[in-house]
Amino acid sequence: MRHHRLLVPGAAAACLLLAIPASAADATPGAPGIGDSYYPSYGNGGYDVSHYDLRLKYQPTTDRLEGTATIVADAKQDLSRFNLDFALDVSEVLVGGKKAAFEATGDHELEVTPTAPLTSGSPFTLVVRYSGTPSKVVASGFTSWLRTPDGGIAANEPESAWWWFPSNDHPLDKATYDVSVAVPDGTQAISNGTLRSTSSKLGWTRYNWRSSKPQATYLATLAVGKFDITTDTTAGGLPVINAYSKDLGDNAGAARASVERTAEIVDWESTVFGPYPFDALGGYVPNVPTSYALETQTRPFYSPKGFAKGANTSLVVHELAHQWFGDSVSLKDWRDIWINEGFASYAQWLWSEKEGEGTAQELADYTYASYPADDPFWQVEPGDPGAENQFHDAVYDRGALALQALRNHIGDQDFFAILKGWTAEHRYGNASVKDFVTYAEKVSGKPLASLFDTWLFTPGKPAAAQARAAEL
Ligand code: ARG
Ligand code: ZN
Repeated sequence: MRHHRLLVPGAAAACLLLAIPASAADATPGAPGIGDSYYPSYGNGGYDVSHYDLRLKYQPTTDRLEGTATIVADAKQDLSRFNLDFALDVSEVLVGGKKAAFEATGDHELEVTPTAPLTSGSPFTLVVRYSGTPSKVVASGFTSWLRTPDGGIAANEPESAWWWFPSNDHPLDKATYDVSVAVPDGTQAISNGTLRSTSSKLGWTRYNWRSSKPQATYLATLAVGKFDITTDTTAGGLPVINAYSKDLGDNAGAARASVERTAEIVDWESTVFGPYPFDALGGYVPNVPTSYALETQTRPFYSPKGFAKGANTSLVVHELAHQWFGDSVSLKDWRDIWINEGFASYAQWLWSEKEGEGTAQELADYTYASYPADDPFWQVEPGDPGAENQFHDAVYDRGALALQALRNHIGDQDFFAILKGWTAEHRYGNASVKDFVTYAEKVSGKPLASLFDTWLFTPGKPAAAQARAAEL
């Protein structure tokens, strides 16, 4: 329930006389952060976005990005001003069609002051006109924008949106997206979801993409470049769109041999995790020198390096497992990263088991043995790794070991019921590590605090017996 500030009788009367709604007198600024424990300035308070409409134009030769973001949101408090997270140059902001004052404050904050306060519970529409050269814009000491010889790409975690659209940049505020991007004829623009249409005029081709299910800001992606695009339809009727840079060198074959198996892998994962949550699928491989991959919603980003040793279906299994674990069920706080990475890593073990290349238990035993007790690996707690260790091997490998220990402790029937039930219970929502422990206890009917403390929240190598979880 909202807390009303007490007004002295005289002030209330003055408000009535001036016909100012009581809410306006009460209005306060929205917080510049959403309250994340690792990243206090990420996201914002006071409003909730339901839809982003991005109408952009990108010129690869100059790396200039320009356009307009139309943001549909609801005020969550009487709001005198509010922040967006953004690092490019803004030329105009309209709130409800009226010019609003704005100011860049901090390295990725845009402070917007509407002419009149917004009323709690009311919808409002925001228009932001902007431009920039994202590869040259440094925020928090870096840029996530990857410039390639023929284009540019936004794909990083947790920071990605700052360099291409203004947002409430935290997974707690998910929204739907229309991304429309004009690029020079002969160049393509790839984003999330379905390709609704393309059109060409005056030397520019416009690609209109739609992501129709709630999507976290870091899972929105844009890739401009010259791509070979393959399209297909799944047995269930969903469109599959994959894109490969024309410039992948000798990684091209292995990239295609991996990413073209997307539909098959999604079908198999659906049998383990429950129905696929989105209405499109695919993947894209731009010509970037980086080595990470990212579970951008419906269409993961893969670096060519991931395929340097040959086909890598395991990587595709990982990014596609994130569609359930991370994308549909998103974390509440970046501290909860294990609910993404532990599960996507465990999916790779399940795939290996299914492919006859070693069972999950064999891989768990191998992983457990491969880190000696004095390895710093064991000092990182997957359940609270710290921002600097958010993508540490411990979050992935020890994170998967935690799930094998759970499986051994409660048995296959409950374990697999939990994988499906969890993704159903929190579909399109947010959840924490604590929520998972509670859910697993509910389904299994067993106390699990000690098991999860051992695997997720205690530095040091658990005893071998605990790896089998027989004694817990
Ligand atoms: N979530 C990604 C994955 O595990 C990891 C992204 C790491 N990001 C980075 N910039 N290294 O697939
Ligand atoms: Zn991952």
